[in-house]
Amino acid sequence: MEMSGPALPARTVAQSQSEMTELVLPNDTNTLGNLLGGRLMNFIDLVGAMAAYRHARSHVVTASMEHIDFIAPVHVGDLIILKSSVNRAFRTSMEVGVKAWVENTIVGIHHHVASAYLTFVAIDTQGRRVPVAPLLTETDAEKRRYEEAGQRREVREVEARRRHIPKFEPAKI
Ligand SMILES: CC(C)(COP(=O)(O)OP(=O)(O)OC[C@H]1O[C@@H](n2cnc3c(N)ncnc32)[C@H](O)[C@@H]1OP(=O)(O)O)[C@@H](O)C(=O)NCCC(=O)NCCS
Repeated sequence: MEMSGPALPARTVAQSQSEMTELVLPNDTNTLGNLLGGRLMNFIDLVGAMAAYRHARSHVVTASMEHIDFIAPVHVGDLIILKSSVNRAFRTSMEVGVKAWVENTIVGIHHHVASAYLTFVAIDTQGRRVPVAPLLTETDAEKRRYEEAGQRREVREVEARRRHIPKFEPAKI
């Protein structure tokens, strides 16, 4: 992994914050017309990757997605609004927070349905990990999320050691 080279200029949280709106269609739902959890995870992954991609200005892969509570059902015909922002940039990885809301435009309901933290790793076109720019926090909320992301990384590392998560080794073909 090439880690030397000129320091990358810091980028603000606002520069990579992303948003996505999806209309829930029958193909996204279960037999009762509720959004499938896996489809919501797919939307969360996509909007999270957008923020990571914008921050890193390189290709990114999802390393982990953690702790999602599905707080309320989402129905066919609802709008799902998802927002993502980079909480902290480490060396080659970034923690991104995603929050999803549902909007029923007919009855005028708008509420929080899910939140998740994801880690993305920046890679080049050969799949080699590359460093990411430092994150510049501006608001109090951004500074709080930055601190909390550091604490979550410590917990993740302890947990990974406990579960002996194997190192990724590309298959030789
Ligand atoms: C993510 C991936 C690149 C990490 O590779 P690795 O050899 O384990 O790399 P390292 O141990 O050197 O870690 C690289 C960085 O990723 C972070 N990382 C690795 N695994 C992680 C995990 N499970 N959760 C959070 N962060 C993780 C490390 O903390 C490190 O961060 P840093 O450089 O900012 O300090 C590799 O596991 C991979 O390619 N996985 C498949 C990704 C993919 O295809 N995702 C789509 C879904 S299948």
